[in-house]
Amino acid sequence: MTYLLGVDVGTTATKAVVVDEPGTVLAVGSSAYGFDTPRPLWAEQDPDLWWTATQEAIRSAIKQAGSDGSQIASIGLTGQMHGLVLLDAARRPLRPALLWNDQRTEEQCDFMRATVGRERLIEITGNDALTGFSAPKMLWVRRHEPEIYARARHALLPKDYLRLQLTGELATDKAGASGTQLFELADRDWSPELLSALDIDPALLPPTHEGTEITGAVTEAAAKATGLAVGTPVVAGGGDQAANAVGIGVVDPSSMALSLGTSGVVFAATDQPDHDPRGRVHAFCHAVPDRWHMMGVMLSAAGSLRWFRDTLAPGVSFAELSAEAEQAPPGCDGLIFLPYLSGERTPHPDPNARGGFIGLTVRHTRAHLVRAIMEGVAFGLKDGLDLMRTAGLAEVGEIRASGGGTASPLWRQILADILETDIVTVNTTEGAAYGAAMLASVAAEVNDTVSEAAGRWVHVTRTSRPSTADYSAHHRLFAEQYTILKPTFDTQTKLASAES
Ligand code: XUL
Repeated sequence: MTYLLGVDVGTTATKAVVVDEPGTVLAVGSSAYGFDTPRPLWAEQDPDLWWTATQEAIRSAIKQAGSDGSQIASIGLTGQMHGLVLLDAARRPLRPALLWNDQRTEEQCDFMRATVGRERLIEITGNDALTGFSAPKMLWVRRHEPEIYARARHALLPKDYLRLQLTGELATDKAGASGTQLFELADRDWSPELLSALDIDPALLPPTHEGTEITGAVTEAAAKATGLAVGTPVVAGGGDQAANAVGIGVVDPSSMALSLGTSGVVFAATDQPDHDPRGRVHAFCHAVPDRWHMMGVMLSAAGSLRWFRDTLAPGVSFAELSAEAEQAPPGCDGLIFLPYLSGERTPHPDPNARGGFIGLTVRHTRAHLVRAIMEGVAFGLKDGLDLMRTAGLAEVGEIRASGGGTASPLWRQILADILETDIVTVNTTEGAAYGAAMLASVAAEVNDTVSEAAGRWVHVTRTSRPSTADYSAHHRLFAEQYTILKPTFDTQTKLASAES
């Protein structure tokens, strides 16, 4: 029997999934860790935490699968995007990695826009400068830690540090690389124009590969550390959002994914480098060869409901809250929730955005508050979807939803009504790690293409269809609130920074 292994280097854990030829998950190993926030806006992690956790996760998954490692025909890597790992000439980390959720680089984003020109930056990369991306992080280290930058010989994404430990090779995938903002979206490779404008040495960056291409093989040392067989091929894989989409079968043009985890994502696969000329939605390469995708990211989706539960309804299960919320009517009798509890990315790229309940009256109950959160998150996702439609996305027949929030039948129905599209769930639930295993299955010739893998391994389990509920007036009301409150957010931020 041939097995595939998918490894996902996440922000809080690394997960390893063993899958067999028909696509059944045989075992899941995982090992958790934390990240550091040494200063406000900073988020860092020691790269060796990932390697230790990966060894544990792979060992545990192989053992649970009853394998000795030799059945694993190929390995796919995925993980947190947009990070920065700087290595010296001996390929050792020079400092903790800066993570995707690190927000320290506002000044460097302004520098990139001023140096390259905002329009040109979006034309080349498909994206406006964003504090979380790798490029402004490199510029930050160059400016604030010049002695470290001077010693840097390699700049990697988190999962590619793991690839280096497993195979000894420096390489990356095109989906992840396009999230660094040093990448030419249409050409699917590093942008000589950007590297030259920003004065970044191209030799720092590894070669880029399509998601299904083999980038190296497990070394003897890595085999000893993980229990894998020496020589097992490792494919390029993809950034976690692209790999997650692969894992739920969103691979062909105009298919769509939605994820309702702590963050919320709407994701559309495209067959050309479509992007919003104002850079309000992300546009990256897909992990599927010669495909791209657009993506809207909300920072606090199911995270908003978790905040509510932990703060105002401790001990109550999400299932109970969801059942209770069914008592409130669509539109929540005028109550609106702004889900910007952690600032926002899409459609408002604003770390200073704030959340809020607006329109409270004494008639509102806890059911209304919960339903308003679900509706507010769905409106935020619709804002992302509408921007992708403006950027050229064709109509889609259904949206494949995944993530903890989709366990709520009410939330799935609200999404179907507000996005005006069928919301379906699928049989595969191991997310990005499963998608990485699917990419590996092509290199192992278990499947001929990623589309074939998706067709064979993934099927729809539940469908929520739009009902007659009409939310258009409520969506308008929701959209107005951010605009009205924005000056207040900005004033609050100025007052807070004046005080500190
Ligand atoms: C995608 C993104 C997150 C990180 C962390 O743009 O920022 O998905 O990759 O998981």
